[in-house]
Amino acid sequence: MTDLDIERIRDGLKGRTVGGNVVYFGTLDSTMDEARRLAEQGVTEGTVVIAEEQTRGRGRFDRRWISDPGQDLMLSVVLRPDGSQLPYVNMAAALSVCSTLSQVAGMDATIKWPNDVKICGSKVSGILVECTVNSRDIDYAVLGIGLNVNSNLEVTKGISSIATSMYNETSRTFNRTDVLIDLLRGLNQRYLNIRSGLSLVDEWASRLETLGKTIRVRWQDKMQDGVATGVDDQGNLLVRRPDGVMTTVVAGEVTLQH
Ligand code: BTN
Repeated sequence: MTDLDIERIRDGLKGRTVGGNVVYFGTLDSTMDEARRLAEQGVTEGTVVIAEEQTRGRGRFDRRWISDPGQDLMLSVVLRPDGSQLPYVNMAAALSVCSTLSQVAGMDATIKWPNDVKICGSKVSGILVECTVNSRDIDYAVLGIGLNVNSNLEVTKGISSIATSMYNETSRTFNRTDVLIDLLRGLNQRYLNIRSGLSLVDEWASRLETLGKTIRVRWQDKMQDGVATGVDDQGNLLVRRPDGVMTTVVAGEVTLQH
């Protein structure tokens, strides 16, 4: 018996852009692929695809994303931002996850640039944004969110030092319907802010654990070390290299150096 009550979710999001249409599946290959299929068919902006289980969940750099069926949240949202608004979609999602963790569980989450949400140093959620462009602009973007809610990662994966769940951090189980409604409401509000030209950069900077730290950025086969000093108005990371030169990092994988 699932604790995902789709009617209550639909009701809780009624009339909003994000969540105005909610589609639910038992098992999918990936909610990203289903959302893409629906986007190609012209579904309304803000359509949310939720699955209890994914057989081919994926993360950034084509890594596998493993979630516990029936325990965690796996969802994708079809969005149609302008090209200039696209960089803020990832921010909106990561910030909404942080505020939900605070609202429903009293947890103080941080963001490891650009897309990991962490509690006490371990990853609890990952964000993935994929987009399709046409000759003039973004056709659509699919925003994927994986949030470890009730899975017990100490038992199931043995990777508790890098990954965690809300359950692992609190020894409490959470009703996923409540978590999802709060998350989608926050995401809707931030997405509307983006659409009306408001910036999320201050909130973004305030949650970034990366700032002030010595980091290593890996992008394709290049590596760069430095101190993350701030973010620009697109949320890109500003890094001071050891030779004092400032660079802007727009993509890549960051590891904190101790
Ligand atoms: C990452 O941390 O690299 C991003 C992980 C994104 C996982 C979510 S789960 C729902 C959606 N469907 C997928 O296949 N991936 C995203």
